[in-house]
Amino acid sequence: MRIVLIGPPGAGKGTQARFIASKLRIPSMSTGDIFRSHVGRGTSLGRDAKRFMDAGELVPDEITIDMLRERLAERDATNGFLLDGFPRNAAQAQILDEMLAEAGTGLNVVLELTAAEAEIVRRLSGRRQCRAHGHVTHTDLLRDADLCNLCGSRLYQRDDDREEVVRHRLEIYRAQTYPLVGHYTQRNLLVTVRAEGPFDEVTDRAMAALRVLDE
Ligand code: AP5
Repeated sequence: MRIVLIGPPGAGKGTQARFIASKLRIPSMSTGDIFRSHVGRGTSLGRDAKRFMDAGELVPDEITIDMLRERLAERDATNGFLLDGFPRNAAQAQILDEMLAEAGTGLNVVLELTAAEAEIVRRLSGRRQCRAHGHVTHTDLLRDADLCNLCGSRLYQRDDDREEVVRHRLEIYRAQTYPLVGHYTQRNLLVTVRAEGPFDEVTDRAMAALRVLDE
């Protein structure tokens, strides 16, 4: 299956991407994670991307599209993938279609995750990530305020999870990314799942929506 996951910041895309991709045995690819990995390694791509990410802006298309093209060319992407965070505007959606058409394939489904704005702000203000493995968690779930429950390594807060940056990311989502929901609805590719409630219930809802589509 070739799936695109779409939704506002903090809807739980990264969290659900891992569960769904593992159930479907396809790789999950997050452009945000790839950028953060470049930033962490101090590459020139990471330096270019960081100032846009810290401001809550989209990284320019020419940087993002080349990076995604390289990732899709890797061997594990040939039998399907779950894309988290791409496409994020009309130009990226068009390029993705062209890349897949060149490979003789196309998208099977676009899964939209939704959550109320108050819940999004609550989630992002408490989100923490570990330096060692990138595990994502929330302060409400931590046994120790500074350490990852899963691997014990030190946690940090993303620079773009500051309140004013979160607000800007939501504006960018509404203006540039949300119109893709209409675009994919028209193409009969969109399914929408409410991403509030326990993690496993959200996964079950998403898997049920994907199965219905597969039948
Ligand atoms: P990216 O990393 O993609 O950020 P985002 O889309 O804003 O999404 P988030 O990672 O903030 O949230 P999420 O929906 O994945 O939520 P999560 O699962 O972590 O992109 C970052 C930046 O990179 C962009 O701003 C841009 O600059 C750049 N970028 C990336 N892609 C780009 C592109 N295509 N073009 C241009 N620029 C690009 O969950 C959030 C929190 O909620 C966590 O603490 C989690 O534990 C908690 N949580 C999750 N589910 C639940 C639940 N059911 N109940 C309670 N808590 C929950």
